[in-house]
Amino acid sequence: MTVRHCLATDEWDDRRVLQLLDRAARLKAANRDDEALRGKLLGLVFFDPSLRTRVSFEAAMARHGGRAIVLEPGRGAWALETRRGAVMDGGAPEHVVDAARVLGRYVHALGVRAFPKLDDWEAARRDEVVRTFAAESGVPVINLESARRHPCQGLADALTIRERLGEAARESRFTLAWAWHPKPLPCAVPVSAAIAAARLGMEVTIAHPEGFELDGEDVRSVAEVARRCGGRLEITHDIDEAIAGADVVYAKSWGSLRAFGDADAARKLAAPYRSWRIDERRMRATRGGRGFFMHCLPVRRNVVVTDGVLDGPWSAVVDQAENRLHVQRALLLELLGGDR
Ligand code: CP
Repeated sequence: MTVRHCLATDEWDDRRVLQLLDRAARLKAANRDDEALRGKLLGLVFFDPSLRTRVSFEAAMARHGGRAIVLEPGRGAWALETRRGAVMDGGAPEHVVDAARVLGRYVHALGVRAFPKLDDWEAARRDEVVRTFAAESGVPVINLESARRHPCQGLADALTIRERLGEAARESRFTLAWAWHPKPLPCAVPVSAAIAAARLGMEVTIAHPEGFELDGEDVRSVAEVARRCGGRLEITHDIDEAIAGADVVYAKSWGSLRAFGDADAARKLAAPYRSWRIDERRMRATRGGRGFFMHCLPVRRNVVVTDGVLDGPWSAVVDQAENRLHVQRALLLELLGGDR
């Protein structure tokens, strides 16, 4: 039997995504716990830190009578070698292939968070760690954020937009605005958010400074989902033009792929763009001044977005974070067969 994974929602058909969003909305509205996942175990492997992903998955399992077991390789669990064919004479005493095979014998599904090592984009873009777990564990694997995708964040983003715009999402404008940040960050969230908006048939604009182009294959994936779902994709280097009249402003920083692995070069490339920040003036320029603001969190206040936007009526960020819980409940019920 084919094992179903959740690695990248652009690999799913549109119907599966929309059904999952419907189920998440029903679970949220019903606000009831049950025992649909009783006896089910979810292993959560975090190579990188988390607040929302970890707690929302643990909460999702608990709310349906299941359990989650958290592992942090290198902190209480063995550090894992991730390179195929490595001669393991360095620090890591266990290979990710062996860990995946063993964990698959203990639990019914696995979640894996593995950010890119900031050295080589050609290697990072293969999402090897998450895909190794999927290939080797024999159980459903959920990508909890890799170099390329953060599917659960994208699903929560889509649910949040649907809650606020409903069917009008199809006639609405979604702007993904690059933001200045002191450190180069991965591209998984912005790409997943753009895919989520494209799937809702929105007119998607990605605004970033020159030199901060997303991976070409990822841009093509967004464009392909938009084409299929009746939306559109545009790319601009003018943040104010992108925000004027938008219904949704999603701020997110990402590191330049041109300077991937070179922190100094990355800082120099980003330095002229400190003004790429969402403030009240920019939110007032949205459609009727009533566009809403999204960010996956964590966010650097007054760097990426001002306090005035985050604490004001524009902000949807806490709803977004809450919706992680509901889409993941729906996902776990789908993957673990707790269909009731
Ligand atoms: N948005 C998100 O994935 O948050 P965490 O990094 O805290 O899990």
